[in-house]
Amino acid sequence: MDRRVNDEPAWKERIAGLEERVPLLDGRMVRYINLDNAASTPPLIDVVGVVQEVLRFYSSVHRGTGFKSRLCTAAYDEAHETIARFVGADPRTNTVMFVKNTTEAINKLAYRVPLGRDRVVISTRMEHHSNDLPWRRRAAVLHVGVTPDGRLDEAHLDRLLDEYRGRIALLAVSGASNVTGLVQPIHRLARKAHAVGARIFVDAAQLAAHRRINLKPNDDPEHLDFVALSGHKMYAPFGSGALIGHGDVFLDGDPEHPGGGTVDVVTTNDVQWAGLPHREEAGSPNLVGAVAMAAAARALMAADMDRLARHEASLTSYALERLRVIPGITLYGPADRCEDTDRVGVITFNLQGLHHALVAAILGYEGGIGVRSGCFCAQPYVACLLGLSGSELTEWQRDPLEVNRAARPGMVRISFAAYNTRQEVDVLIEMLSRITRRDYEGQYYQNKESGEYTPAGHEEPTLSLLGDHRALSNLVVPVAR
Ligand SMILES: Cc1ncc(COP(=O)(O)O)c(C=O)c1O
Repeated sequence: MDRRVNDEPAWKERIAGLEERVPLLDGRMVRYINLDNAASTPPLIDVVGVVQEVLRFYSSVHRGTGFKSRLCTAAYDEAHETIARFVGADPRTNTVMFVKNTTEAINKLAYRVPLGRDRVVISTRMEHHSNDLPWRRRAAVLHVGVTPDGRLDEAHLDRLLDEYRGRIALLAVSGASNVTGLVQPIHRLARKAHAVGARIFVDAAQLAAHRRINLKPNDDPEHLDFVALSGHKMYAPFGSGALIGHGDVFLDGDPEHPGGGTVDVVTTNDVQWAGLPHREEAGSPNLVGAVAMAAAARALMAADMDRLARHEASLTSYALERLRVIPGITLYGPADRCEDTDRVGVITFNLQGLHHALVAAILGYEGGIGVRSGCFCAQPYVACLLGLSGSELTEWQRDPLEVNRAARPGMVRISFAAYNTRQEVDVLIEMLSRITRRDYEGQYYQNKESGEYTPAGHEEPTLSLLGDHRALSNLVVPVAR
């Protein structure tokens, strides 16, 4: 990666809602700082514009002859083509299926990939539960280990590939981790999987907004067989995701959800299924979500992705540098500068003597900063990074039965996107420094069932505030940020 520092937040002007102010515990109003982009990114203004436009013409898809229906059908079909281009998929052999999100995409693939009795799926300890549990339900899953600083143990993968050669249905890996941000060498892994007769699936949920994705031609040993994406993690939060890959596996057998839109011919005792992607997109589709996702994909294709990646890497290095000197902090994952490791802008940490959920709550209630805490749906990976012992793990596993999540292990996570700034990192660091000095105002109480902390006397925002900004501003005193 080019090491030139670029601190210009490349997309600051292009994101909706960045100037929104939110109330703090003491009644002041500040501009919200979103450091939780790994969960969901805000929408691109372009995407919102396209959605507003399509809503004026909103009508049925593949189900009507009126002008609006024909227009919506064309927009929906074109969205498939755009997503295929976005991931460099050959449309002659690959298909794009719109789904709700990455989780649904992986379940759909797990339902379909041929998994004979003695076949195995190789996944890794780094995966989000969504790229682990759907496979466990269908096959024996082997998990590639990780090093203490959270990197994939590729030597372990090599041993597993060798040992199970010929029996491996699929290698299922994430393109980038939602816990450490580490980016996997997916094309090298593809080459290794193909060399032993396996296919590769890449969970690109954390990759799509930060790196170019290229499936490469089907006959290339580095080709990616299947990829999944979530629109809400790539600036298009309108309820769509996509599964892209070899059509062949979806043509074999009945669709996952039979019903309207999936068929060609139906008699009372027979059915002929429609072609792809229709047979895998049952019922009326989420046109708005698909069109929004395609708009985001077009914006990302037109963007200088190296510039976005450089900005995010520089911001991540800056944050690591400033976090490292906070007394009592433990940072997880590689300690290197971000530019020295292929890593998207995700950082996890803990502050000594402070519960992760308490730190996250104070940042939210008193700093107006959105972060996430807990295990980020990646418990096996978080357990490795925390270095939990066998007995600690047993304790963890027993907890849910007692409905007591108060002592659940976890971490605090911050995650950047193309619009975040150094100034936002500075506000975060200032808040964390105050927290370590116990310089915060609220009296926080933990809910034992959820594990979450809330300050005494606070009022949860109600939906009515959403539509009435005046009501929100009347409640509180604005301050500059
Ligand atoms: C790496 C990874 N995979 C899968 C998912 C699941 O994505 P979704 O919630 O959109 O289904 C996430 C969500 O955070 C993720 O980070």
